[in-house]
Amino acid sequence: MCKKPYYITTPIYYPSTKLHIGNTYTTVAADAISRFKRLTGYDVMFLTGTDEHGQKIQRIAEEKGITPIEHTNEVVAGIKDLWSMMNISYDKFIRTTDECHIKAVQDIFKKLHDKGDIYKSSYEGLYCTPCESFWTETQLVNGNCPDCNRAVEKSKEEAYFFKMSNYADRLMEYIEANPEFIQPESRKNEMVNNFLKPGLQDLCVSRTSFDWGVPVTFDKGHVVYVWIDALSNYITALGYGSENQEFYEKYWPADVHLIGKDILRFHTIYWPIMLMALELPLPKQVFGHGWLLVDGGKMSKSKGNVVDPVVLINKFGVDAVRYYLLREIPFGSDGLFNNEIFIKKINSDLCNDLGNLLSRTVAMIEKYFDGVIPAPIEKGDFDNELINLALEAPKKVSKAIDELRIPDALESIFELIGRANKYIDETTPWILAKDEEKKDRLGTVLYNLAESLRFASVMLSSFLPETSEKINVQLAVKAIDWDSLAGFDGTAPGTAVKKGESLFPRIDVDAKLKELEEIREAQLAENKKNEKNEKVEIIPIKEEITIDDFDKIDLRVVKVIACEPMKKAKKLFKLKVDINGEERQVVSGIAQYYKPEDLVGKYVVLVANLKPVTLRGELSQGMILAAATDDDSLLQVINPGKLPTGSQVR
Ligand code: ME8
Repeated sequence: MCKKPYYITTPIYYPSTKLHIGNTYTTVAADAISRFKRLTGYDVMFLTGTDEHGQKIQRIAEEKGITPIEHTNEVVAGIKDLWSMMNISYDKFIRTTDECHIKAVQDIFKKLHDKGDIYKSSYEGLYCTPCESFWTETQLVNGNCPDCNRAVEKSKEEAYFFKMSNYADRLMEYIEANPEFIQPESRKNEMVNNFLKPGLQDLCVSRTSFDWGVPVTFDKGHVVYVWIDALSNYITALGYGSENQEFYEKYWPADVHLIGKDILRFHTIYWPIMLMALELPLPKQVFGHGWLLVDGGKMSKSKGNVVDPVVLINKFGVDAVRYYLLREIPFGSDGLFNNEIFIKKINSDLCNDLGNLLSRTVAMIEKYFDGVIPAPIEKGDFDNELINLALEAPKKVSKAIDELRIPDALESIFELIGRANKYIDETTPWILAKDEEKKDRLGTVLYNLAESLRFASVMLSSFLPETSEKINVQLAVKAIDWDSLAGFDGTAPGTAVKKGESLFPRIDVDAKLKELEEIREAQLAENKKNEKNEKVEIIPIKEEITIDDFDKIDLRVVKVIACEPMKKAKKLFKLKVDINGEERQVVSGIAQYYKPEDLVGKYVVLVANLKPVTLRGELSQGMILAAATDDDSLLQVINPGKLPTGSQVR
């Protein structure tokens, strides 16, 4: 029978920084979904890869004194090693430096140009290099990039533009008619209200100031804008535009693009518009998951809080890491990575609940039945409850994965594991074993436990593949077969079990926490050392000004007296500040970094003579000064100390 195709993608990663546990999250989630779809009879194409072009990569390579491709080759090898270590079962790994991708992107660009969707003009705008994005004055928040909050550079060059507005109405209609297209729902509203409704600007889609990109074939010196290049990967990886379009025909449109929430705009506005212009079908769904936070903040190198997946895998095993990511992070919203919770979760769920269930079951089969699984002859109390729960679990897991509720799928599996442990306490096999007449009942209890573990193992195989294999070895489960979960009789009586090592040895929480803390400190020290030795890339210093220019800026100490989040603008706070008895309202893009209550009572510095503007419908009378790192991760409002409000900052 012909299997139904299922196409799932992750973002393609920038080979600019080392991967941390935060950006491995998307790929682990995509892997679990892919494995599950394969298990339940789909013909899966799981795509991942690397996004290798752009000014940022060129600069990094220059600093290292090597060519961009030498740099990306090095990083890509590391990424592939990590994916193999994490058991990522991708079907294809695309690199935007692959020749066939480059050729297809060139054809796409030419096609859009020939159709009149792309036209040549010149651009004078504000460019954010780290985000590779041009912004208009009105899109900036407090003069900074609305995505990463960093300073933008003025940039003028001849460039090609994409007439996005030609397709805005069609896209809006499509989004309205297909409520599943942007998920979770809240993210859909953000895109529609913040970007589509205010009107789409034409998008600058070529650059001339650097050459590490896909060359525009019909205009020497231009390279294709990295996002046009990168987004195309989802179809070029399938051979779109090549001689062999078999995969494209089979898998496109994608069932789901899984991405982090920061790149939703590119995937739900630019990408569908590109596809509409190319007259191709749109992906069925774009799912934007949340951030993985560490101690309340986004993971970042400069904060020294990045969690290295390799360290965790070496210490705790790959499935402990996969389990935490898949079970503990609410899919769709932000989640916390915390060493202590991580270790305690391994001890409670994986060691106590799952590991002990297996070791107790195998030990009892060895002890009471010479290591051979007995037949279920004599039914008794509690059996039906356990069996019914087992038979329901696959349905719940299937439904949860269809709706991309990964933690719920795991919860259903662990509900069965918990129930089976309770069944041991209820049926007390060690007491049954004392009475020869109860041998048949004891056999049934142990059969039911072995069969429950087989259910758990089949279901877990998509999420914790290594653990599932270990269970199968101990219980001699021959095949991972989803359909076999239709009946509670897949274990063959007479099968010999084989006791193995414990699945998850118990961890000494304090000792391991101390080890992790030492690693973190060593990492911080290493970062500091590198900071001293290496020239850190910073945003270029702006044009020179005179003291008179500076004198025009009136900076004052003010006290925050009220602060509230703005509706429909997650990055913005509306603050009331006191400036020597005068009350002012200020809109500030610092909501990602503070809680409102952290700011109330704080003394901050205000640009007091900035012309008032209306931001998202609210009056803003000035701007609060903050220092921010180059990689958007750290931001701190300037603290002038408790000087009387109105004091000048000079
Ligand atoms: O954005 N928690 O690549 P990238 C959760 N090349 N997810 C995180 C995260 C965190 N702390 N940090 C990063 C790009 N991510 C583009 C994609 S697709 C055509 C081009 C996620 O390497 C982030 O949201 O910067 C994104 O989904 C992925 O890691 C790769 O980020």
